[in-house]
Amino acid sequence: MIHIPRGTQDILPEETSKWRYIEAKLHKLMEVYNYQEIRTPIFESTDLFARGVGDSTDVVQKEMYTFKDKGDRSITLRPEGTAAVVRSYIENKMQGLPNQPVKLYYNGPMFRYERKQKGRYRQFNQFGVEAIGAENPSMDAEVLAMVMHIYQSFGLKKLKLVINSVGDAESRVDYQNALREHFQPVIHNYCKDCQQRIKTNPMRILDCKVDRHQPEIKTAPSITDFLNDYSKAYFEAVKSHLDRLGIPYEVDPNLVRGLDYYTHTAFELMMDNEAYDGAITTLCGGGRYNGLLELLDGPSETGIGFALSIERLLLALEEEGIEFPQTEHIDLFVATMGEKADDFAVTLLNQLRHAGVSVDKDYLSRKLKGQMKQADRLNSTYTIVIGDQELEAGEVAVKHMATGETQTMKFEEIESYIHGGKE
Ligand code: HAM
Repeated sequence: MIHIPRGTQDILPEETSKWRYIEAKLHKLMEVYNYQEIRTPIFESTDLFARGVGDSTDVVQKEMYTFKDKGDRSITLRPEGTAAVVRSYIENKMQGLPNQPVKLYYNGPMFRYERKQKGRYRQFNQFGVEAIGAENPSMDAEVLAMVMHIYQSFGLKKLKLVINSVGDAESRVDYQNALREHFQPVIHNYCKDCQQRIKTNPMRILDCKVDRHQPEIKTAPSITDFLNDYSKAYFEAVKSHLDRLGIPYEVDPNLVRGLDYYTHTAFELMMDNEAYDGAITTLCGGGRYNGLLELLDGPSETGIGFALSIERLLLALEEEGIEFPQTEHIDLFVATMGEKADDFAVTLLNQLRHAGVSVDKDYLSRKLKGQMKQADRLNSTYTIVIGDQELEAGEVAVKHMATGETQTMKFEEIESYIHGGKE
């Protein structure tokens, strides 16, 4: 037997109905916030992520699905959405669009070769937004408010928003030097990657999965002490907006995030539940990226965004015991008695389906009792039973399953009765 690849999952019909419920809600919220959907390819040039996400990140160094295509080009299955959306923004010259800032959202599979764990997959589905073209604390506040709104709209309560400022490029030069000084005397105790990172990008030592319990990580200098005046004022303004909006948050000076493009505001939304055993508790992450467009040869516009995975949102919903509304149902189940009635049902189903009625019948020669059970399983709103008598009279009793009420009518009247009942 051939098995599903490690770190992937089949989303079976019972689950896809939950996915569609979640996605429909997300699309609706995006309308409310005036964001428009963008769909970019699932694979891109490897260079895009190497430059955009950063050569020294775990994502680029260890987790990318990279291969040569038949034209000998290096291709990578997208590990995240931001670099791809920014590439598309630049390529399609969106800075020239009349509506600025450009507010985009996306929803689709991402790929990272990571260790499998509850809430961590090799193919996972990110829903994310990118707002490009406004360097304004109120833009950051909008994105943060949207993150909270999304999770709260599903009824989730145990949430913790953690924010930080990682400053601008200028603030970071001094910070990187301070980190080098701090780690240099002990770097021989650290993993091979960190010994490299101290040269290329010492901030990455702070989120190393191997060395995270080393004592110097806790005592490392904090970016907060290196923020220049502009960065400090920007962060204060973002926090004031959050205070005004009544959005609770925690500032964690050690939150640096695992991707290189972040500047100023960086954030994660965590599941606030210590009892949640061992599973990943970060539901969503994002931040501002002021240098990314220029790094990818684009205009000097800036952006901010976030991404969440639907898989982790589902875990959080399960964890808080939030039920999904029962949405799967059909309008009508047609039970039959005898061959003639069954032949007639085939035509009736066809007519009703073309009129937009969701309808099903038995295909396994079940007895009437079995057919009624099937109607129940399909959560059918109405049922009819067709036998010789109904065929002769051209009339049938339409039964409303929940109330037990029946109403007799001509076959031709069923469609308008059901559609009328819906209103
Ligand atoms: P990220 O923190 O790498 O950021 O991922 C964002 C979210 O994607 C995580 O918080 C988590 O919900 C989900 N996620 C990541 N890896 C996995 C995995 N292996 N399995 C399941 N879920 C996962 C980004 O990707 C940035 N592009 C976010 C962003 C947008 N920043 C600015 N704009």
